[in-house]
Amino acid sequence: MECFEIKGQKKLKGVVSISGAKNAAVAIIPAAIVAEGVSVIENLPSIEDVTCLMVSLDKLGAKCTLTDESTLIIDARKVKSYIATDESVSKIRASYYLMGALLGRFGHAEVAMPGGCNFGERPIDQHLKGFRMMGAKIDTSDEKIIKLDVDGRLHGANIYLDVASVGATINIMIAASRAQGRTVIENAAKEPHIVDTANFLNMLGANIKGAGTDVIRIQGVDRLHGGEYTIIPDQIEAGTYMICGAITGGDVTVKNLIPKHMDSLTAKLEEMGCSVIEGDDYIRIVAECKLWPTNIKTMAYPGFPTDLQPQITALLTAADGRSRVIENVWESRYQYIDELKKFRADITVNGREAVIEGGKELQGANVFATDLRAGAAMVIAALGANGVSTIGNIRFIDRGYANIEEKLLNLGADIKRINKE
Ligand code: EPU
Repeated sequence: MECFEIKGQKKLKGVVSISGAKNAAVAIIPAAIVAEGVSVIENLPSIEDVTCLMVSLDKLGAKCTLTDESTLIIDARKVKSYIATDESVSKIRASYYLMGALLGRFGHAEVAMPGGCNFGERPIDQHLKGFRMMGAKIDTSDEKIIKLDVDGRLHGANIYLDVASVGATINIMIAASRAQGRTVIENAAKEPHIVDTANFLNMLGANIKGAGTDVIRIQGVDRLHGGEYTIIPDQIEAGTYMICGAITGGDVTVKNLIPKHMDSLTAKLEEMGCSVIEGDDYIRIVAECKLWPTNIKTMAYPGFPTDLQPQITALLTAADGRSRVIENVWESRYQYIDELKKFRADITVNGREAVIEGGKELQGANVFATDLRAGAAMVIAALGANGVSTIGNIRFIDRGYANIEEKLLNLGADIKRINKE
């Protein structure tokens, strides 16, 4: 098993550059096949989820060519199949976007149930409700495959989402871009990657207005073409490195990010006593100070992102006093707490609330990544801990963080990728 071995308490210093956004990339890659064209996608993160989606697209007949580490050409002209039931599809969560893309293009889709990080129930009822309202018949009698069919072409519809779901908003937007007539999504999610996917689809010739607000209007078009697009920087990767800087009492400049996307984290780090300096496309965080406790409630964007909840919880163990975290987005996203306790962190979980008694020095430990962001939290705790830690199951971390050990090494961390029995 591949592990990270980290010797903690090295102050991180220097500059780290952020890769393209994972959750935008994993939407934009499937979205490319709703068009009969050639798309060139730049600033792609070099992560496992992207590799997995390329395999899925290849199996459908699209030709995916990486011209360098971060540029992907997708030739979607020859996609003939609407059946995406390969193992690569069931491995990751975002393969659910193949439903919207194939349904929009062919009026049919057969897609394996999505996999991805396992932190409890992850329903897709709102995606299916949207497709149904646009005229699709849905067969879920096979628990491993979802079959969607429409007589002719999807039609526009007014869709009110019961929860502001990121996935449902994007999936409906992709399908509706080729539907007949106008679709309105109300109570839409507003995350930056929704705006990015809408911008990508508009570049292909779609007519989507209002992405980034809670009402999105999509006027369907008959055909979409190819084009070139650059993915936005990863808000969660950027936040993770800001937190890495903070836990080591370091001085880290995180560059190639959109500072506005970081507002909720920046505010919290300032409350904790860090100094945060913003430029046009960078944030410098100086944490050569005592850290104060604070309270966090995760919310849909522009609230504090659930995808930074495990990382900030790891940081709060180093703050001098009691902090509370409330997880509002996912029902059970605290499985990693038992691992964090192995560093001798003092944390009590009660339902959606975690209470952290911070300020006691973390001690190196042997732990496992239980999912992607939980893995990032283990790295953060190990960077702050006294002594050596090993983190197993790092394949989870590789799913979402491009070149993490190189980036941390450049900042002065003592981190090695090792093989362990
Ligand atoms: N929900 C429903 N029904 C649905 C869809 C969602 O009830 O049909 C509920 C969920 O149970 C959850 C809430 O709505 O309580 C939000 O779920 P959402 O659909 O927004 O999540 P998602 O699209 O499956 C994406 C990210 C996640 C991130 C969430 C929330 C991707 C591929 N995944 O998931 O990212 O946590 O939005 O921001 O974009 C990660 O990157 O580590 C990650 C898990």
